[in-house]
Amino acid sequence: MRVIVAADPAAAAELAATRILTLLHSKPTAALGVATGSTPSPVYRALSRAQLAEPLDLSRARAFALDEYVGIDARLPQSYRSVIDAEVTEPLGFQRSHVSVPDGSAADLAAAARDYEAAIDATGGVDLQILGIGHNGHIGFNEPGSAHDSVTRVVTLTQETRKANARFFDDNIELVPRQAITQGIGTILKARSIVLLAFGAGKAGAVARALEGPIEEASPASALRKHSDVTILLDEAAASMLS
Ligand code: F6R
Repeated sequence: MRVIVAADPAAAAELAATRILTLLHSKPTAALGVATGSTPSPVYRALSRAQLAEPLDLSRARAFALDEYVGIDARLPQSYRSVIDAEVTEPLGFQRSHVSVPDGSAADLAAAARDYEAAIDATGGVDLQILGIGHNGHIGFNEPGSAHDSVTRVVTLTQETRKANARFFDDNIELVPRQAITQGIGTILKARSIVLLAFGAGKAGAVARALEGPIEEASPASALRKHSDVTILLDEAAASMLS
């Protein structure tokens, strides 16, 4: 595991973007695993700028989102389908049919989750997975207590996570869905490479626990230490509780 402390989030995002572009140059059919939320946004903006300056043909590349809320209309701006389309699919020039997001409005959610896991496997797996981390150490929506070999499934969000995400729902926690479909920790660990980003003092505790605490189910991100190709990109505030 490599831990890089960058001068600021923009510098960390540039490093992640360079890593993604290097992969897509060498493997035009690569599959990228994409997170949503505030943390990866500067990475996607850096990639958009690079695409404007020197366009790369991404028509054969694929992307798989980590998660999606259950019961949300995919057309709403808060759905992860909308976020991924606005931040990844359209600005970067992926083919829409090559960008997959779990179907949180499926009639049979368990089947949708199984199909999603199978779709990732069927395309040969994720080459590079981009991750953020929750204040409670979650990756994807794998909350504390998730098995480290878990697969894509329906999960219940903690109150803490719903509170953190209320900022995307008019600051009204009641509007934040209670469930999601998320790639499992085991699914995430199947990616060939993983880059986790974390910014700000609010993430420092989760980062320290993930990197230096016990590897345990109470600490979902600690599972990343079982993987052989993980890069952690931090700003100084997020690194401030590391020993
Ligand atoms: C997003 C996701 C979550 C976020 C995490 C951090 O697809 O799966 O694990 O990465 O909640 O969110 P931000 O970046 O908004 O602090």
